[in-house]
Amino acid sequence: MLFLKINKTDAEKARKMIMELGIFENEYKVENKGKYVYFPIKKKISDIGEIVELKGNKSKRRRSIEEILGKVLEKKELENLVRSYDLIGSIAVIEIPKELEKKEKEIAKAIIEVHPNIKTVAKKMSAVSGEYRTRKIKIIQGKRTKETIHKEHGCSFKLNAEKVYYSVRLSGERERVKQLVKPGEKILALFAGVGPFPITIAKNNAECEIISVESNPIAVKYFKENIILNKIKNIKVVEGDAGKIAEKYPEWADRIIMPLPKDGEKFLKSAIKSAKDGCIIHFYTFVESEDPLKKAEEIAAGKFLESNTKFKVVSKRIVRSYSPKIVQVVLDLRVIKNK
Ligand SMILES: C[S@@+](CC[C@H](N)C(=O)[O-])C[C@H]1O[C@@H](n2cnc3c(N)ncnc32)[C@H](O)[C@@H]1O
Repeated sequence: MLFLKINKTDAEKARKMIMELGIFENEYKVENKGKYVYFPIKKKISDIGEIVELKGNKSKRRRSIEEILGKVLEKKELENLVRSYDLIGSIAVIEIPKELEKKEKEIAKAIIEVHPNIKTVAKKMSAVSGEYRTRKIKIIQGKRTKETIHKEHGCSFKLNAEKVYYSVRLSGERERVKQLVKPGEKILALFAGVGPFPITIAKNNAECEIISVESNPIAVKYFKENIILNKIKNIKVVEGDAGKIAEKYPEWADRIIMPLPKDGEKFLKSAIKSAKDGCIIHFYTFVESEDPLKKAEEIAAGKFLESNTKFKVVSKRIVRSYSPKIVQVVLDLRVIKNK
């Protein structure tokens, strides 16, 4: 094998050069010997330095999931699989269709090989259901724990992947909402789970006042731990019903976050009560995928009409597809009270 022999002090420059020339041989390891570094190269090029021949050591290149499972799964099965798992901290939560159950161990091992941070693979055993929006999961490979710490936008969220709801797929929304917050805002973070929306906001907006509401006592326990973990001082956590708590803060909020896409509209009237004039409500809802934004606006309009309150849609978008016929949508609604 050919190696470029370089004095250690010039190693970084040499690495850049051989990368730019496209001659770095990544199947082999870079060797360090005494005051020299030896870079494996694909071919001799004159004038780049001293070239020597060594046996070398093969590098352990990480294989892709397609390479590992290419012979075990059909192309379509592989595509579906890649779309069907979520990485939450050190846990991969995966959907195994009935016909692949016999291959689930191999699939789980492949996921661990591809993602070195993943220590546990668990399969979905039920749909997300109930008030707490949780699902049963079963560990099929790796460390026997359902508790993990998930890192997102510089924040850490401790959680149990079975006992609380946490969606990695809403990470973009948390970032978007964080960017909209202005200093000193009063924010009502309803349906807060283990705290991803309020903590992401608070981490960047120490002067805001945030009241968060969550009804799942286990999520509330983790939420309180996460406040300490992220050194947050400006969040008050209330365990209870979002509707009832919102009504205790009439005309209070500059911003209200409502990430309960299933039946969240039932709480819109209470949210409208706690909104100041000009308040922005981030309203998440599931709707059929045909003309979804119009459908979502109609749902919101109905609740504003019942509340005898005007509103303006300031932003609307499809967040993600939820099932073949259902999408999740978010509307940013400005509440108009003083006109
Ligand atoms: C879809 S999850 C969103 C959790 C979190 N905001 C996130 O983005 O991961 C909805 C959350 O609302 C909570 N919840 C459901 N109904 C509630 C209610 N009436 N009052 C307060 N929290 C409620 C559930 O327990 C769950 O944690």
